[in-house]
Amino acid sequence: MQARESARNRSSLAHRVRYALRHPERVPAHVRRAVRDAWLRLRYRDHIAYYRAVMASDAARSAEAAVGHNPSRETWVRIGRMQFDYLVRHGLRPHHRMLEIGCGNLRAGRLFIDYLDTGHYYGIDISPHILLAAQDTLVREGLQSKLPYLTLADDLTFAFLPDGHFDVVHAHSVFSHSPRHVIEECFAHVGRVLAPGGFFDFTFDRTEGEEHQILHEDFYYRTVTLTELAAKHGLSARFMDDWEELPHRQSKMRLTVMSAPARSVGP
Ligand SMILES: C[S@@+](CC[C@H](N)C(=O)[O-])C[C@H]1O[C@@H](n2cnc3c(N)ncnc32)[C@H](O)[C@@H]1O
Repeated sequence: MQARESARNRSSLAHRVRYALRHPERVPAHVRRAVRDAWLRLRYRDHIAYYRAVMASDAARSAEAAVGHNPSRETWVRIGRMQFDYLVRHGLRPHHRMLEIGCGNLRAGRLFIDYLDTGHYYGIDISPHILLAAQDTLVREGLQSKLPYLTLADDLTFAFLPDGHFDVVHAHSVFSHSPRHVIEECFAHVGRVLAPGGFFDFTFDRTEGEEHQILHEDFYYRTVTLTELAAKHGLSARFMDDWEELPHRQSKMRLTVMSAPARSVGP
């Protein structure tokens, strides 16, 4: 269905002027972000180090603000619930072992942890600040006995994780903040940690026009780009049509490891 399809290039001058005229109240916040972007880019050439600093700055205001554009408690709860309900409808079971990439402060993770068998949730994130906020969520929700793993990561090679371990890998609103090389690194390695029959679901900001980015924070990709990138690393992609019906501005894809014959005929 692809209902969220858009050819808009949000980084173009014309779009930015139109947006500023329609929403003058948002201009000061955008200018603050642009100044922060310029300063952090000067300090950090590497994207992970840059985005870790963005998260530190956002989390200092509030953990909810750091994981979502609309930082209200109500939205935090709603978006977490939406991720959880969708994944349970699409195959997550309590005995599964789950890896959440960019787990944030457990907006959805708290529900996954509660649902999964003890010790079956593994969350990784590049931000120590948000992982501390994740611990606060665990305490607040009384989830200590489920013994989730929460681990700081510096890249997406998963080098410290075992082969064939995870039935489900999940990344919500992570690739919307990731340049192509970070996504490719993930695609190159995620197949190794997936258990036989396992899958990797992720969301992304979709454009049907020119691919673009806003500052170094928000990245817009075409579906075909990510499908081809996945195929290059032996993964087949499925666009999750029914996710488009939900009130969320990103799109979702599911990757699975290609069977051996399919791998040998791809481009
Ligand atoms: C918008 S938040 C979403 C958090 C969580 N997935 C949720 O839905 O609430 C993005 C999270 O991904 C983390 N992140 C960004 N790039 C990452 C990367 N390359 N590897 C791991 N985590 C990353 C950020 O630190 C942040 O916690």
